[in-house]
Amino acid sequence: MNIIDLRSDTVTKPTADVRAAMATAKVGDDVFGEDPTVNKLQEIVAEMLGKERALFVPSGTMANQIALQCHTQPGDEVICDENSHVYNYEGGAPALLSGVQIHPLPGQRGVITPEQIRSALRPPDHHFARSRLVVLENTHNRAGGAIFPLEEIKTIHNLSKQTGLKMHLDGARLWNAHVATGTPLSEYGRYFDSINVCLSKGLGAPVGSLIVGSSAFIEKAHRARKIFGGGMRQVGILAAAGLFVIKNHIERLAIDHKHARYLGEALNELKGVSVDLQATCTNIVIADFKAGGHFAAKVAELLKEQNILSIPFGEYKIRFVTHLDISEQNIQIAVEKIQKIYRQL
Ligand SMILES: Cc1ncc(COP(=O)(O)O)c(C=O)c1O
Repeated sequence: MNIIDLRSDTVTKPTADVRAAMATAKVGDDVFGEDPTVNKLQEIVAEMLGKERALFVPSGTMANQIALQCHTQPGDEVICDENSHVYNYEGGAPALLSGVQIHPLPGQRGVITPEQIRSALRPPDHHFARSRLVVLENTHNRAGGAIFPLEEIKTIHNLSKQTGLKMHLDGARLWNAHVATGTPLSEYGRYFDSINVCLSKGLGAPVGSLIVGSSAFIEKAHRARKIFGGGMRQVGILAAAGLFVIKNHIERLAIDHKHARYLGEALNELKGVSVDLQATCTNIVIADFKAGGHFAAKVAELLKEQNILSIPFGEYKIRFVTHLDISEQNIQIAVEKIQKIYRQL
């Protein structure tokens, strides 16, 4: 029986076309800057995001951590939402790799406001850490794929200009925000000093992220990538997959969004289950089983017995993510099975 894997959009397997592109990629030593396919990918992504340059790195975590390293000095403070990836899921790297402390703020669906940021700023007194960087996440993973509104980004950008803060965007799924809102990627690029975009999530490439910014920033990022062990050699094989998915898999994210919406609405109709449908506008669905008193681990286990994979997100919540390898039929089967299991609980 087919497994319907809704744990993450990172579980996709490269398609035959992606593999073919990889197999025929022109390569060189990228540590010497001589891989033509990497160079092409970097140029295209920098242009898409309206930035001077881009750097190919192995993962989204490395892209985020390079940004933190390049924008800060040890002892500085980084402001972000308390549910952000950079704060929760990167192994304590901000402290470990860059010696910075995080100032987490309670966001609403991952959105922190200019007012919150303003009141989090430390006075310029030797008692305090130096407030240096704001990190936003769009779309927001723990908030169920919620989109950070462009208007809020603009206001935070204005505040950062007044106060000398730098801005980094964890745009692991910025492609999803772009497709869902129609906002050009380059428009997002205008408001951030650096952006991380991932190829290995909704786009379905096997590996890779890019960090974009000014030439001076990427020069620093290049050094940080080397220090973090992310300098790779004939990596055009991976960049070729990136080029393919950027060309062919962005617009189709709308299909994943439709599937997630369908799943979210169906789950929300079950008595004792709630889904924040306002957040469910891209490819992530977070279902809360608390009102029905069902533990997430138990529900996820029952789903697994029926070949539906999901991820418990805390005691009562389960995350489902739609992606390239999930068809309309898969999502219909998943909904039917979840409904059936839930009625038998
Ligand atoms: C919002 C967000 N940022 C960053 C990352 C890190 O990406 P990677 O797994 O490539 O390190 C993830 C991974 O799921 C993510 O969801």
